[in-house]
Amino acid sequence: MARKKIIAGNWKMNKTPSEAVELCKELIPLVKNDDVDVVFCVPAIDIIPVIDAVKGTNIQVGAEDMSFEDKGAFTGQISAAMLVDAGVKYVILGHSERREYNHETSEEINKKVLKAFENGLTPIMCCGETLAQREQGITLDWIRQQVKVGFQNVTADQAKQAVIAYEPIWAIGTGKTATTEQAEEVCKGIRECIAEIYDDATAAAIRIQYGGSVNGGNAAELFAQADIDGGLVGGASLKADFGKIVNY
Ligand code: PGA
Repeated sequence: MARKKIIAGNWKMNKTPSEAVELCKELIPLVKNDDVDVVFCVPAIDIIPVIDAVKGTNIQVGAEDMSFEDKGAFTGQISAAMLVDAGVKYVILGHSERREYNHETSEEINKKVLKAFENGLTPIMCCGETLAQREQGITLDWIRQQVKVGFQNVTADQAKQAVIAYEPIWAIGTGKTATTEQAEEVCKGIRECIAEIYDDATAAAIRIQYGGSVNGGNAAELFAQADIDGGLVGGASLKADFGKIVNY
């Protein structure tokens, strides 16, 4: 069965609640496309107004992070149960900005992935190499390690539902997209890694996105690759360009 493409915006730390509602109004008519899954991953404080603003449309709402704890004395954190109760369906986990600025490890990200599944959320687990790692020729080894640790104790049935976002760190927010060949090579490598951990059926079902300077001009070629099932989009998800990406 063909995998449905999934195109997710990662708003990062942009848009106040009122600005978020305005952006939704602008984007709703532009991102109509029932052939793909469209997700807006928004800052925590924007989640409730955005869910309200996109009600009745084809847009699903995602969070940008969450705690691996259930509840309790964890000041400033947000639990999976809180996201689910608000109507969130997806959660980005292990974005390279969180790995870098918040020192998140793959082991912690694995705990979050398990917690997301336990609560019925779909994780969008990010992985990606630095420019130095690419130049050293260790990209695939590094990504395989991130995926293997991130998916520890995840069942095959869960993995089939998961989304992995391959985002080369040197391509994020730089305007420097990976070439189509580079992006496909790693996404294919991730699928092979999933086949090794689980089986061919799981590898055929899991959705793998490319992220890093995706825009209305390069989306069609990237998404046409055999192993690229859509994109995780930062900068361009805050503009009308996101409509072009969704309707690539
Ligand atoms: P970008 O960000 O599209 O602005 O490069 C992608 C991401 O970090 O998810």
